[in-house]
Amino acid sequence: MTDHITPVFDAVDIIQTKRDGHSLSTEQIQWVIQGFTDGIVPDYQMSALAMAIVLRGMNRREIGEWTQAMIDTGDQLDFRTLDRPSADKHSTGGVGDKITLPLAPLAAACGLAVPQLSGRGLAFTGGTLDKFESIAGWQADRTPEQMRSQLDEIGAVVCAAGENLAPADRVLYALRDVTGTVESIPLIASSIMSKKIAEGTSALVLDVKIGSGAFMKNLEQARELARTMVDLGTDAGVATSALLTDMSTPLGNMVGNALEVRESVEVLAGGGPADIVELTVALVAEMLRLTGVEDVDPAEMLASGAAMDVWRAMVSAQGGDPDADLPVSPHQQVVTAPRDGVIEKMDALGVGIAAWRLGAGRASLDDVIAHGAGIEIHAKQGDRVRAGEPVLTMHADDETRFARAHEALAEACGGKGAIAYGDSAPDVPLVIDHVVAEESS
Ligand code: URA
Repeated sequence: MTDHITPVFDAVDIIQTKRDGHSLSTEQIQWVIQGFTDGIVPDYQMSALAMAIVLRGMNRREIGEWTQAMIDTGDQLDFRTLDRPSADKHSTGGVGDKITLPLAPLAAACGLAVPQLSGRGLAFTGGTLDKFESIAGWQADRTPEQMRSQLDEIGAVVCAAGENLAPADRVLYALRDVTGTVESIPLIASSIMSKKIAEGTSALVLDVKIGSGAFMKNLEQARELARTMVDLGTDAGVATSALLTDMSTPLGNMVGNALEVRESVEVLAGGGPADIVELTVALVAEMLRLTGVEDVDPAEMLASGAAMDVWRAMVSAQGGDPDADLPVSPHQQVVTAPRDGVIEKMDALGVGIAAWRLGAGRASLDDVIAHGAGIEIHAKQGDRVRAGEPVLTMHADDETRFARAHEALAEACGGKGAIAYGDSAPDVPLVIDHVVAEESS
């Protein structure tokens, strides 16, 4: 904790400094972050400062100090003394993104320790904890000691981030959410990286998504966010790199919590959709590269069944039953192809909102999730279909939800609809770019 707060700063001066396009000093940043967390700087002044940052930005030093100041408001874990190198992955979130589920056990099977502190989902983006919580008995809460022993014994732990991990970020994010100040690369990067650096991993691979189902809608923005986060991690001593990956269409064939667990288990069993396998293997290969672990092929390790063994152990260690039946929603509705042709487009945002309206996501953190709800995709972008063939199956606990989900599909893409049929589909690569550390300027 920062225990040397100088009471001489005036929040108005700090707001004016940033409003007028100047950079904030180290002391101003430390004071305002700690003061806001302690309730000394009120919400209205922090909102004004956040808006000034949205409009004026921050330089690399300011972003690094802002991130460190948020880390210093809470606890910092340290997994650098484990027997194996520690590495984690963070995704900026998307539709059908269940990659952590096969990735954590696969990385552990390859010799890494994966300490992943995760969150629950809001709106159309699913949270990793929500997916795990569809497994009977699975518990999200782990103490740092439990995390360490699970990492020693099994090599992977996915659990809830404690209240005291970068608490400044929690209060600031809640404020940004209601003041139109989420959309700022310095604020997004510092928010994500404060939690990841505080988690104490030695290496971090970022999966920065681009497209309708992602925060970043275009390549330029995604590159800038990736570069900012890679610099932040590198400056903080965490070996960091990023893959920029497509999120214009859903990842895999399942969207919704239990459905995504089912698909992840298929991947661990050696099957599953090609895009999930490709991205999981690419991200684990990058984790191995950053930690200097050589001579292990993640694709071979996945095929060998070793990652499935780790999955079963990590689910059991947190009270879950890897053999339990997953929740299934009682109601289904099928969406069929209206004509023969190729699925030219299947929009991630439209499918994500439809799954959310079926009950797979929440509108506020208190909402209860329907774990079996969501969408099963039978034909993906690029697939050829015949009129009347099933394209999607919607799953819901409550039949009244289907109408609003159909509306979400119809209204997507400015009213053109989430699914477009034609004669061919564009060939969109899944991994679009790679951002690695460069020397500090
Ligand atoms: N995720 C975060 O953790 N923080 C942001 O600001 C945006 C996305």
